[in-house]
Amino acid sequence: MTRPPRVAVVGATGLVGQTLLTVLGERFPDLQDVRALAESSGGRTVSFAGRALSVEAISEETLDGTEVVFFAATSAVSERFGPWAAARGALVVDKSSRFRMDPEVPLVVPEVNGHLVHRGGQLVASPNCSTIALVLPLFAILRHRSVTRVLVSTYQAVSGTGRDALSQLEAETADAQDGAPHGTAYSKPIAGNVLAQCDRLAEAGYTLEEWKLTRESEKILGTALHLSATAVRVPVRVGHAESVYLELDRPADPVTVREWLRATPGIVVVEDPDYPTPRDAAGTDDVYVGRVRRDLHDPNGLHLFIVADNLRKGAATNAVQILERSLSAETVPS
Ligand SMILES: NC(=O)c1ccc[n+]([C@@H]2O[C@H](COP(=O)([O-])OP(=O)(O)OC[C@H]3O[C@@H](n4cnc5c(N)ncnc54)[C@H](OP(=O)(O)O)[C@@H]3O)[C@@H](O)[C@H]2O)c1
Repeated sequence: MTRPPRVAVVGATGLVGQTLLTVLGERFPDLQDVRALAESSGGRTVSFAGRALSVEAISEETLDGTEVVFFAATSAVSERFGPWAAARGALVVDKSSRFRMDPEVPLVVPEVNGHLVHRGGQLVASPNCSTIALVLPLFAILRHRSVTRVLVSTYQAVSGTGRDALSQLEAETADAQDGAPHGTAYSKPIAGNVLAQCDRLAEAGYTLEEWKLTRESEKILGTALHLSATAVRVPVRVGHAESVYLELDRPADPVTVREWLRATPGIVVVEDPDYPTPRDAAGTDDVYVGRVRRDLHDPNGLHLFIVADNLRKGAATNAVQILERSLSAETVPS
């Protein structure tokens, strides 16, 4: 493609859609034809690279002729329009969970398995925000050691649930005395609280978010991880954190592990006595890893603390990196 591609962002009025427009404007400021799609127009505008874009209601007509479509709405919207757009030759990058575990659809973190993205029409799924931050350090370590067990506890920001959840946090923060939920994103108050449930409960007492961490990580890394997770929502606006325990096949010195991590694109190692925080990560595109240390009781055990911006690397930036991979790919499948 010699001229810039025609791009559509579906869900352009949401948190991920807005961040997608920001990251696209940073990395592709020359894009001319960018469509902002949502459920309805509502006379709204959104901003792209300093220009105001009119929001349009999604339909086959508003998607027609687009060469790249980012889906950041609901799974139902991705299901309805994603395969349709890909069949017409568009690169479709889906931020919803709809196609992530479909064996026909690559689930991509470009630094890990970007080779699965090719030039031209293709449906590519972008993983869950916590999964993206987790698989980068795991990928770095798996090049040198096998992993026999992974235990993860997350501390996930409210923006991970979307704009309605941020409104709930703001309303509860403004009225801290009342102690009741001020919204429907969470059934318990999130301000001043910690909720040991992200998404709904599913099989075996694990939530959907916990299953996503387990299944998506194994699909991306192509290996069994024996991973169990506890996903927790905390009253932070932006930036997911994860405490990770790895059981390796043999010991690894933390100094060496930091070298492996540092050598992996997309990772920033934070050295002791400092440590990464969601505020450090917010607004950036890297995955930060700190507190790298050997377990006190098992020489094969290793602890890490991981932080990333859930709206950027956990969503928008990863999706835009998939577009970059596609544009630079040489192979066009027959
Ligand atoms: N937030 C995160 O950190 C994160 C990370 C990774 C993946 N994701 C995924 O990204 C997607 C968007 O999340 P979000 O946090 O940005 O949600 P959000 O802030 O609630 O925004 C939802 C967006 O979807 C649009 N939408 C809803 N129903 C639609 C329909 N029937 N047709 C067209 N557009 C529709 C909304 O448009 P209107 O303004 O017209 O209602 C709005 O633009 C979700 O699938 C989510 O699971 C989110």
